[in-house]
Amino acid sequence: MNHVSELAINYLQRYGCHIDEDYKTFLREACKIHPPPHGMAWYGNFYRQRARKAEWFANSLIANAAEEGNGSRKVWHFSRCISEPEYAELVRSHSIDESRHSKMFVALVNILFPTQLETDFWVQLQDLSPDYYHHKHPTTEPPLVSDRSQARSLDNSSSGHLILDTEKVMDEIIKINLLEIRALILQLLLRPVLQAYATPENLAKVTTMSDVFIYDETKHIEYSAYCIGKYTQQGNQEWVREMMIFRQQSVNEMFLTDVELENSVGTTILSTPNTVQGNLE
Ligand SMILES: [Fe+2]
Ligand SMILES: [Fe+2]
Repeated sequence: MNHVSELAINYLQRYGCHIDEDYKTFLREACKIHPPPHGMAWYGNFYRQRARKAEWFANSLIANAAEEGNGSRKVWHFSRCISEPEYAELVRSHSIDESRHSKMFVALVNILFPTQLETDFWVQLQDLSPDYYHHKHPTTEPPLVSDRSQARSLDNSSSGHLILDTEKVMDEIIKINLLEIRALILQLLLRPVLQAYATPENLAKVTTMSDVFIYDETKHIEYSAYCIGKYTQQGNQEWVREMMIFRQQSVNEMFLTDVELENSVGTTILSTPNTVQGNLE
């Protein structure tokens, strides 16, 4: 039994999420065959050791703000390529949450390191979030074939628009699911560090923000697991099982490469931009 799959399933249960039994079986098997490094003790120790340095920690919060913003834009683009309305709506909500997370990370920098931010840089940080809301967001229309450069993995076009076929949508959703489990684990690592940097005056506020992050990441695991479970029930058990094992392996490999390059230590998603890091140095 792997710690990461059990932790994810426990959080889903804690928040009362109904989860497909096949999904749980496949997740457990994928994590047993390819144990996720982000759930291992060495990574937690590695992260905590670096996070002791305030400058490193402040930069990692900014890197997270940038990654959540980029993730939000990418997830929105993906939502436009899904023909199934229910799935597209779930993915759009996910994108809006990540847009909010980007702002929350910037707010955390301001709360925990208030004197380090100059006004211009503060404005720059606000722009890391695409600023998506349920009432204000970009088009939901499928991208045109001419947008192919932005839609690398898309190859199915109909009436001049790029629409993903069902297998590609499910592959993306499986990747999202496994990456959201990683995001949950990293939020759990982040929580005590945030609390350690908080003052008695802002401890409650910082803790509430951590609660929101953890809840949202669990809900992202839930909706993607729901889509995976539904596809499984349509007679695709073996395909889903194999794809979850395969994608867990690729998520692990990307993570280890990024950690080796010190690219993603402490970020809730897979890579960090070079553009904003260093501004607090
Ligand atoms: Fe997030
Ligand atoms: Fe997320």
